[in-house]
Amino acid sequence: MNRRAFLSWGTVGLAALCSAVAVSLGAVCRFLVPSVFYEPPQSFKIGNPADFPFGPPAFLADEKIFVFRDRDKGFAVASAVCTHLGCTVAHFQSDQRFHCPCHGSEFGADGSVLHGPAPRPLNWFEVTLARDGQLRVDKDKTVPSSYRLVV
Ligand code: FES
Repeated sequence: MNRRAFLSWGTVGLAALCSAVAVSLGAVCRFLVPSVFYEPPQSFKIGNPADFPFGPPAFLADEKIFVFRDRDKGFAVASAVCTHLGCTVAHFQSDQRFHCPCHGSEFGADGSVLHGPAPRPLNWFEVTLARDGQLRVDKDKTVPSSYRLVV
């Protein structure tokens, strides 16, 4: 092996070593940074009471909730997440029930399970009035289906 060939192979070897060190450092850095999934806040404002008409519930797709406004009883917020495997349920005004499109679970108007395989009723969340007059929903606080915020 002459000097030129030696230097050429030496350069390739040095480049390979640098690459290996860089990949290893990247792996170490990735290992040191925890894999955390940041959830959106569980307490959030959904708007002013006047934004929600009386009648059929308003479905907020981003939050996966139904907002009910009853002329006499006030506001109530139900989860749109099926308790079986987490599909989004739909509310049918015709029979006043929630239907899950995935495996056919059916929930009554109060969220109770009428037809499985869902193991538990739908959750209802606390809704309060924030200082600025907007409705605030807290998904960390479940309430009975009879809970209402009268505004
Ligand atoms: S996810 Fe709703 S019935 Fe299975």
